[in-house]
Amino acid sequence: MTIHTKQITLPAGYIVINNKPFDINIMKKKFFNTNIYRNNSATEFIVENGKITEMGTNLPECDEEIDLKGKLIMPPYVDPHLHLDYVYTGRNDGGMVNSGTLFEGIERWHYIKKSQNKKDVKERALAGIREEVSHGIQFIRTHIDVTDPELTGLKAILELREELKDKVTIQIVSFPQEGMYAYKNGFEMVEEGLKMGADCVGAIPHFEWAREIGEKSIHKTVELAVKYNKMIDVHIDETDDVMARFIELLNALVMTEGIGEKTAASHACSFGSADNAYANRMIGLFKKSKINFITPPTENAYLQGRMDNYPKRRGLNRVKELLEEGINVCFAQDSINDPWYPLGNGNMMNILDNGIHLTHMASYQEIEKSFDLITFNGAKTMMIEDYGLTIGRSANFIVLNESDVFEAIRKRVEVLASVRNGEYLFKRKEPIYDLPLNL
Ligand code: FE2
Repeated sequence: MTIHTKQITLPAGYIVINNKPFDINIMKKKFFNTNIYRNNSATEFIVENGKITEMGTNLPECDEEIDLKGKLIMPPYVDPHLHLDYVYTGRNDGGMVNSGTLFEGIERWHYIKKSQNKKDVKERALAGIREEVSHGIQFIRTHIDVTDPELTGLKAILELREELKDKVTIQIVSFPQEGMYAYKNGFEMVEEGLKMGADCVGAIPHFEWAREIGEKSIHKTVELAVKYNKMIDVHIDETDDVMARFIELLNALVMTEGIGEKTAASHACSFGSADNAYANRMIGLFKKSKINFITPPTENAYLQGRMDNYPKRRGLNRVKELLEEGINVCFAQDSINDPWYPLGNGNMMNILDNGIHLTHMASYQEIEKSFDLITFNGAKTMMIEDYGLTIGRSANFIVLNESDVFEAIRKRVEVLASVRNGEYLFKRKEPIYDLPLNL
């Protein structure tokens, strides 16, 4: 392919800037005049071939120079827990939940999924991904239900993962929504999902029909992770039952195998209901194993506490206390209009805003580092090495409509642009009044 201009004909790989031809593979691009989250020394950086090659101030002139107008930038938002095969099924026939409980959601999904096909899943999932990416997310971990003899959802999302990999990174969990054992051949389906290319082993021990069977599913999860060299992400203790303590077994087993850093405990709601003596002992063990925790604040607050009269529990894990002990915790969206949760749109600022309220983490000091919960902490959980605005890493970042961290959180600002490998995925203008406010 060639690119034609009025004056010259350029070979493929060249673009024209200020009437000069540039080879896009060797041209240098400088992003300048910015405030970089967690970096007090640099205000600009140079990108070559999609990678950051220099950072600092007063850097040399480049082929292309992009003024970020003093805005705050940071690495892209990370959504480490989302159900892409479920998105937009919440208003389907039979999808509208009455009780607001996790268990009614699972029951409704059992019937809804029977009518889905690969094309339908891909279309819905792609629309969900568009919503997430338009809010600044570039990294998604998605749990895909494999308790389906046709593995329809998994086939669809495996294709999307490949088709979209240059624009958004997707990790897949082979997830038995209806149980590894409560569903006939659930264990075999999880293993098949791993063979087909899923990145993580999933499980749902609190949904198995007896505690012993839930424990068996945890043992099998860890065995599969070791056998296939995969990460682990378990829906664990997603209940207010103070006796739901599968987290204890998962943590012990991954610590024994030395794979705590490759393991994520999603939800762990019951840990927020456990007594302090138990919690204190477990926090010490979590520190040793280096296990990660994922909390979706809006979904946990919506689904939990449903059996309570008053006081009603918030339904979240002990996020604040875990973080204070240096344990990695991140926030997630979980649902976009599905049988579990009617709302959700991939706006991580909304998730963060809810999360810091529900966990009592809105002191000035906590607010200053709270973006970690939807950026670095999620990337750590997903074990993404090429993440962060650092020399040698891919130039992936988002531009927020504010220059200051505290003001960005207080105003819940929008993402103005998302950049992947030095190229804009999207860029939008700052909102302006058609008719100025006269106050
Ligand atoms: Fe989930």
